[in-house]
Amino acid sequence: MSIIAVANQKGGVGKTTTVVNLGTALARKGKTVLCIDFDPQANLTSYVACEPGEETVATVMRAAALFQPADIGAAVCRSDKFGFDFLPADLRLSEADIYLATAMSRETVLRRMLEPLRQAYDYILIDCNPSLGLLLTNVLVASDKVIIPVQTQFFATQGLSALESVIRNVRMTLNPGLEIAGVLFTFRDRTSVSEAVTESLREQYAGTVFQTEISRRQEAINSTMMGKPAAGDIAREYAALADELTAMEG
Ligand SMILES: Nc1ncnc2c1ncn2[C@@H]1O[C@H](COP(=O)(O)OP(=O)(O)OP(=O)(O)O)[C@@H](O)[C@H]1O
Ligand SMILES: [Mg+2]
Repeated sequence: MSIIAVANQKGGVGKTTTVVNLGTALARKGKTVLCIDFDPQANLTSYVACEPGEETVATVMRAAALFQPADIGAAVCRSDKFGFDFLPADLRLSEADIYLATAMSRETVLRRMLEPLRQAYDYILIDCNPSLGLLLTNVLVASDKVIIPVQTQFFATQGLSALESVIRNVRMTLNPGLEIAGVLFTFRDRTSVSEAVTESLREQYAGTVFQTEISRRQEAINSTMMGKPAAGDIAREYAALADELTAMEG
């Protein structure tokens, strides 16, 4: 089994879209998948049209941080439409920075929290919020791998070195096994800017870029808007990404 973070502190690069559609693609390959919404904006939760109950990732996180008993299983929902289980979020997750500040072992709260679920799934995908704070550190400490979606547009790599340095620091301290699964090109189109950025990043990140690229398509927007798995080219591309990922696991 693998816990995979989908992270980039840059906003709107396709993190949530990737978690949802990669999760669906892996489920269609017969894998058991849990998607975790770890963003107080709760976009993933809206995407899968979940009406969360009282228990969400926010309440479980708070309890775990305070070493209180918490039943993470009670917060897990099921989506038959997408084919995966998921852990919804809500705005209360934004309070995490406050209670984590004084919590003991504050970087390992999510890792401890996920322990009971680890063996139940082939893949756990975590949708990160667009920032480099303690929530992201918690995700990186809990994960085996990171997928970094990058828009093939100008300024795409701004901030990438900051993310890489956080990954390096987590690897040197709390999670030596953390790997970059790959940089994933998103919003790929046939403009000369997209072509040029893709070419230069493929060179710069040689060996750590997924072969699969995700195109800029209306289908992706429709999927988000209508709360259903993407169809057409986007579905095919995320299926190819799922193939690449499972091939990596050997
Ligand atoms: N391949 C694509 N082609 C066109 N539009 C896309 C594509 N992928 C995502 N989008 C759209 O771009 C917007 C941002 O995508 P998404 O929410 O997945 O990004 P994000 O990185 O999770 O954002 P945030 O940083 O705010 O969490 C959404 O409206 C989504 O529908
Ligand atoms: Mg998002």
